[in-house]
Amino acid sequence: MTNKYLYFVANWKMYGDLKALNSLDKVIKFSKSIKQKKIKLIYCPPSTLINSLSNKLKKTKIEVGAQNSHESDKYGAFTGQINSKMLKNVGARYVILGHSENRQLGEDNKKINSKIKSALKSGLKIIFCIGETLKEKRNKKTNQVLSKQIKMGLKLIQKKSSIIIAYEPVWSIGTGLIPKPKDLIKSISFIKKKLGKKPYKILYGGSVNSDNIKQLKNINTIDGFLIGGASQDPKKFIDIIKKTIN
Ligand code: 13P
Repeated sequence: MTNKYLYFVANWKMYGDLKALNSLDKVIKFSKSIKQKKIKLIYCPPSTLINSLSNKLKKTKIEVGAQNSHESDKYGAFTGQINSKMLKNVGARYVILGHSENRQLGEDNKKINSKIKSALKSGLKIIFCIGETLKEKRNKKTNQVLSKQIKMGLKLIQKKSSIIIAYEPVWSIGTGLIPKPKDLIKSISFIKKKLGKKPYKILYGGSVNSDNIKQLKNINTIDGFLIGGASQDPKKFIDIIKKTIN
């Protein structure tokens, strides 16, 4: 690991209800016992829980993020949508944008770019997801895809210090598969090269669990992890953190 902030971001996806927030008591207690200063814990629950969760976490160092936001930072007639200003208002400090599960629903690089700009305007930090599908990997298109996602996603964006990149190969999300270390090292180094001089934080996401973390934590160009399934179980989430920092 690099000597920078080590992020553990929980993406709860479309899981969790008010009762599930009680399970975080264990994580809060654990977070208070962490000696290392440069650890950041961020929970991204469904939008319905952001307000309650940020109230619950007020006296802790754990931060809250959202999982998506609308591309407009203004209020408007967009039924069912939530914008970054509203998310900030209820306590979110981060927003995940460009997640492959939303790209699969039709979000393209251009739209993601608008969303990033708008969320930055509202003062949120961005967790910007990029990654290739299995087909793209098989066709040796990984670099080409990553390059396009970075170029278009970050087009004309000034406030780069508020952006964290999350490399999530689509084929590794929810499948139990993770990239071979040499492939992951190569992709991270390619991403860094594409990003230029600015020292972005880069997270890895995709089937991170308390077994494979022992292997993943040895890749010292990664600044943390974006964790789906395993983050819903406080015991598993704590285990991942413990195995990384100890
Ligand atoms: P899993 O950890 O469940 O594979 O999900 C990863 C992910 O999509 C996080 O954003």
